[in-house]
Amino acid sequence: MKITKICCIGAGYVGGPTMAVIAQKCPEIQVTVVDLNEERIAAWNDEDINNIPIYEPGLDKVVAEARGRNLFFSTDVEKAIDEAQIIFISVNTPTKTYGKGKGMAADLKYIELCARQIARVAKDNKIVVEKSTLPVRTAEAIKSILDNTGNGVQFQILSNPEFLAEGTAVQDLLNPDRILIGGDTTPEGQKAIQALIEVYSNWVPADKILTTNVWSSELSKLTANAFLAQRISSINAMSELCEKTGADVNEVAKAIGMDSRIGSKFLKASVGFGGSCFQKDILNLVYIAKSYGLNEVADYWEQVIIMNDHQKRRFSNNIVQTLYNTVSDKKITFLGWAFKKDTNDTRESAAIYVADDLINENAKIAVYDPKVSRKKVLADLDYLQTRTASTNADNVLSFDNPYDACKNSHAIAVLTEWDEFIQYDWQKIYDSMQKPAFVFDGRNILNGPALEAIGFVYQGIGS
Ligand code: NAD
Ligand code: UGA
Repeated sequence: MKITKICCIGAGYVGGPTMAVIAQKCPEIQVTVVDLNEERIAAWNDEDINNIPIYEPGLDKVVAEARGRNLFFSTDVEKAIDEAQIIFISVNTPTKTYGKGKGMAADLKYIELCARQIARVAKDNKIVVEKSTLPVRTAEAIKSILDNTGNGVQFQILSNPEFLAEGTAVQDLLNPDRILIGGDTTPEGQKAIQALIEVYSNWVPADKILTTNVWSSELSKLTANAFLAQRISSINAMSELCEKTGADVNEVAKAIGMDSRIGSKFLKASVGFGGSCFQKDILNLVYIAKSYGLNEVADYWEQVIIMNDHQKRRFSNNIVQTLYNTVSDKKITFLGWAFKKDTNDTRESAAIYVADDLINENAKIAVYDPKVSRKKVLADLDYLQTRTASTNADNVLSFDNPYDACKNSHAIAVLTEWDEFIQYDWQKIYDSMQKPAFVFDGRNILNGPALEAIGFVYQGIGS
């Protein structure tokens, strides 16, 4: 089957960049990204390319090249479904906040709504691709809805999970480690897989395109995220032991990372991992394991989350303890609010939880992040429902300049590893602060000895 029209439901962090790259690399395919969120679609269509809703290095150029040529953003979901041969589902799959599986299971209501809408609208055969991260065996549910509520047309369901990381999304999409496609073993299933392979073959070498059955593909995505997060919790666990023993976690990470069986990536000790996916996907994995009665499997993976929560709490506790057991009315400056550098995404950022703890201790939090607005910071804190919105607003000060954010402050906490933090005039910052001037480097990015030479009391993670 020659693919000429693709639709993607969900214009978020995955749908937007993924489809922009497909459109850039496949100029003969018309790619339409649809979303219910009118504001988001309007931002994707904004004439000023700086206003697209997601900040990712290089994304503006890709969108500028393809938008209006063969890349379109629209709220007309039905039209896009009707016209497309391949429909990607790239909607959010957050942790359930109600009912059975609350706080653990993935909430599949948006997925089901998509499936029902596709079934209702489709008048010819479609390939439906799961791009969202889903519990293993979700394709079965999607298939059941499509086959039972559709207009008698044939649907093939493929699983094609996305492995991009935010901040490097465009590079990851252009040069993926692998493209994973899971499909039915039937001849029709294999034909659908082939159609999707042909799309990716426009820029991805054949040896990087891996095909499996649907269940392996769905489970591989959850497994990949669990393994990645587990490495961070493992090194963070060691960071606490380093602090007690005089070992340095950066040295330990380097020493073990040189073992080619372990590898050097994803061994940076930190204030804790954030982001919309690691916690959600592991909780989901734990829930699935429990639902099969595999309690030891569930406990094993849950420990990754427990360790991560501990690491965030330990960071805020240490600030309070070091500042003579009180931060009440003290100004504590947060450098960074995003969950990692080079993104404006703050979902599950460690900064939110550290700030929440410190505001409980009556601290005033001064925030500077190059890409995150005050509105977002306050929305993140309000979402926790720890206190009223007006109390949050009273306790959070926002700055668009790091030097003002640090002025008169008692301590600086580095929550995100933005490169620009390293380049600051730290002498100037020191001169403007209360003394003793503390720096808590939750990312181990600053030069500790150099800061100590200026006069700072410097504490990194794990040393
Ligand atoms: P997101 O919240 O940024 O985007 C999802 C979009 O889907 C929203 O704009 C929402 O309005 C839209 N939507 C929801 N229901 C809809 C419907 N019925 N019709 C039309 N639009 C609808 O989420 P995201 O970060 O892009 O994540 C999407 C999925 O991809 C999740 O399953 C996530 O686990 C997975 N994933 C995310 C990343 C990442 O880096 N963010 C990476 C890999 C995989
Ligand atoms: C992660 C995975 O890396 C992607 O492969 C996956 O597609 C994605 O989740 C997803 O499914 O959503 P992402 O969360 O965007 O990507 O970013 P990561 O680079 O994985 O970082 C996650 C968190 O871990 C960040 O808070 C980061 O600062 C932290 N981290 C990362 C560490 O603390 N130490 C490290 O060594 C690496």
